[in-house]
Amino acid sequence: MSTGLPPLLEAALPSLTTPAYVADMAALRKNMETAARIREQAGCRVLLATKSFALPAVFPLMRDSLDGTTASGLFEARLGLEEFGKEVHVFSPAYTESTLRELLCLADHLYFNSVDQIRRFLPAVRTAGPGKKAGIRINPGFSNATLGGHLYDPCSPRSRFGVTRAALDELPWDDGIDILHVHALCESLADGSVGLISHMAREFGEYIRRVRAVNFGGGHFINKKGYDLDALVSAIRGFRSEFGVEVILEPGSGLVVDAGYLVATVLDIVHNERPIAILDASASCHMPDVLEVPYTPPLLGASGPGVHPHTYILGGNTCMTGDIIGEYSFTAPLKPGDRLVFGDMLQYSFVKNNTFNGTPLPDLALLHEDGRYEIVRRFGYEDFKGRLC
Ligand SMILES: Cc1ncc(COP(=O)(O)O)c(C=O)c1O
Repeated sequence: MSTGLPPLLEAALPSLTTPAYVADMAALRKNMETAARIREQAGCRVLLATKSFALPAVFPLMRDSLDGTTASGLFEARLGLEEFGKEVHVFSPAYTESTLRELLCLADHLYFNSVDQIRRFLPAVRTAGPGKKAGIRINPGFSNATLGGHLYDPCSPRSRFGVTRAALDELPWDDGIDILHVHALCESLADGSVGLISHMAREFGEYIRRVRAVNFGGGHFINKKGYDLDALVSAIRGFRSEFGVEVILEPGSGLVVDAGYLVATVLDIVHNERPIAILDASASCHMPDVLEVPYTPPLLGASGPGVHPHTYILGGNTCMTGDIIGEYSFTAPLKPGDRLVFGDMLQYSFVKNNTFNGTPLPDLALLHEDGRYEIVRRFGYEDFKGRLC
């Protein structure tokens, strides 16, 4: 009977220590081919948003297919420069004088979120030299987030992101703003990407003509099954030829979707109306988006409740009652020691994890294309203690 696992992972499974996040290098390579194709065919730049995925051990595989990284602040910008190289972009809802000063030594593209911030810091960017580019994030008033409702929609009512349409004429255009930035998507297929590009062309043409580049943000789910790459390529080409500007995309999830796993072990089975399996992986600590979005992650070889004869609730080994990953059914009963493999676990997983309850952090590991399993980082007590004292 099929286990639903990729053969290389199945072979590595019995010997690996859990919990472990495992990057599937073959799948990542395929995802990178998509990025390379978009860059080449659309003539645009593609950056990795390190807020979504930041595993330097994988950067050598990604570097040639991308133009650099985009950061959410000082530490990510430094990581991008030190570990990835190439271009470093940064957007933060607000900068202080001192972070801005440090960022000017790390990043070459700095995006501001408000009229006040860009007025205050544009002179420093200009003084730092011609290699430094200043961008302004605007709120395009275009919603296409496919999950999480308002929680993941940067254009939701009263969103704090981006200069609103009404304030655009207050921007210091004459002082040289290089880039317009819009981030409005979340796990969006091509209709979202193309919709945003067309919306910008239709509604913001007079402002686009004042800059050299437009950054269409992240949320382009370019490696998700069903994403129409040709439609994206043609929309970007059309936009570039209409306005004569450069185009930048900065996806995170779309570059690493379906390219990694979180492997867990069943520790115990308890019963309360239903069988409940306690795992060494936790929703609360290791896959916080399961609770935050919320969503139920795919579990390889299992199905939703009631499909197969043995249904279990899966929960973490913490004190939090709501630390529940989901309900799944299996063809055979679970028992302590069984390995479970959650799919699509690279984006917004290990970058957001925590040690609540002193819960150990999963290994960071690579499954190489020749089947070799490499642990990049193992965490221990010192990592827990180091954040407390
Ligand atoms: C400004 C910005 N750029 C890029 C991204 C990456 O988005 P995603 O991982 O959905 O592609 C985000 C995500 O929140 C973002 O806020």
